[in-house]
Amino acid sequence: MQPYRFHVLACDQRKPDGLGCCNGRNSSLAIDALRRELAARGMLDDVQLTVTGSLGLCERGPNWVVYPEGIWYSGVTPADVPEIVSEHFQNGRPVERLTNKDEGAVKSEIAENRNRMLTSLKAKDAAGALPDDFMDMIRGYQASRILLTAIELDVFSLIAKCGDNASAAAVATDMATDPRSTEVLLNALVALGVLIKKDRNFTNAPLASRYLAEGSKDDARNALRHNLSLWTTWSTLTERVKTGYVTAWRDMSSRNEDWTVPFIAAMHKNAAMRAPIIVRAVGTEGISKVLDVGGGSGAYSIAFAQANPKLCAEIFDLATVVPIAAKHIANAGLSDRVTVRVGDLRRDALGSGHDLILLSAICHMLGPDENLDLLRRARAALAPGGRIAIQDHVMSEDGTAPRAGALFAINMLVGTRNGSTFTNSQYRDWLISAGLKNVQHVTLPGPNDLMLASL
Ligand SMILES: C[S@@+](CC[C@H](N)C(=O)[O-])C[C@H]1O[C@@H](n2cnc3c(N)ncnc32)[C@H](O)[C@@H]1O
Repeated sequence: MQPYRFHVLACDQRKPDGLGCCNGRNSSLAIDALRRELAARGMLDDVQLTVTGSLGLCERGPNWVVYPEGIWYSGVTPADVPEIVSEHFQNGRPVERLTNKDEGAVKSEIAENRNRMLTSLKAKDAAGALPDDFMDMIRGYQASRILLTAIELDVFSLIAKCGDNASAAAVATDMATDPRSTEVLLNALVALGVLIKKDRNFTNAPLASRYLAEGSKDDARNALRHNLSLWTTWSTLTERVKTGYVTAWRDMSSRNEDWTVPFIAAMHKNAAMRAPIIVRAVGTEGISKVLDVGGGSGAYSIAFAQANPKLCAEIFDLATVVPIAAKHIANAGLSDRVTVRVGDLRRDALGSGHDLILLSAICHMLGPDENLDLLRRARAALAPGGRIAIQDHVMSEDGTAPRAGALFAINMLVGTRNGSTFTNSQYRDWLISAGLKNVQHVTLPGPNDLMLASL
């Protein structure tokens, strides 16, 4: 069977430190380049790309094998990709300078590398060396800190401004930073695959060009800057566990713009993506009045209003946040049907006559008693037959899964006084105690689910 004209097996194997491997030679960059080149030339139906483990020529990677001919390419870089696609896949002429032709030599090199790998694994095991995956988790802060510092200093915008061809000295002068430290940072960003270095000059790799530079297509800098705030709060975890006291907590209403703007931008990025899923799962039939408690950027209210032209929504949030929501609403041309109200969800009454009250990413900020109180006030604000929709992590009964929810509970532990992630039974108990019925757990794609209930 040959459903494609060509099938590329592209190695992206990682091996223990000290052994050559394709991943260590930036195979993922060449693989990304192939994906983009095939898409740009409309060839995704002609060439199937499969990313694989080791092909055995580890010291010469990145390695690809192309079938049906069985052509073995070695040392493939992103710069080689257009030639491979045009010459090999379009004109049927393999790129000779990258091919291995001596089958016997290839076989013995593969066997030699396999033996070296097995010997190394045995030696590591015998020496009691920690597994690589575990060490990657332990050192996860390194890549994170490098990227966060680059985002904090806006390195990628500056490189784009220099026409995507900047020396370390030029970047340091422009940022008014220490030249030696700047070069070390830029080199590490190359190693992480977000910059490319050629002739001592740096350019943004595709990921940085698309998401990390001012004016880029999907500029995510504002949203990502929220992680700078989280770096600080997460650093208090040991203290929090030892003392139970949350040192990093501050009431959101007293947070300044530097904290609030990236926070709401981060919420908006996620909410804009999830809003259609939530609207579909909840539905809009019979709903004319929505209250979006802690509505943030307003992405969910906007999506509900767009889905049903008769629906009006009100975003209830802090004074520091509603101006941001008002801007998103105005941009969507919905200021007549989506309105904002300043209030405190911890104590204020929530109005009356709402057909739907949405609590998206709210309950995790609060403790059990606060959630029960909020749901009681929400119930009192519903119209007859009204519904409550909670979007949040819904945890296994022992609180350990899904993984994203267990880690998010730590985010709440270090950033809030009583917040956490809660189980299906906890939500069910609160909703029923608040006087609601028909409690339903709807699983959704992604880390958050829906808990639905009605009067
Ligand atoms: C995690 S965000 C969720 C935003 C939005 N619902 C979403 O899903 O994208 C929490 C929201 O609750 C708001 N908030 C926090 N404390 C509040 C309070 N005491 N009163 C009203 N809103 C509050 C925040 O400003 C923020 O918009």
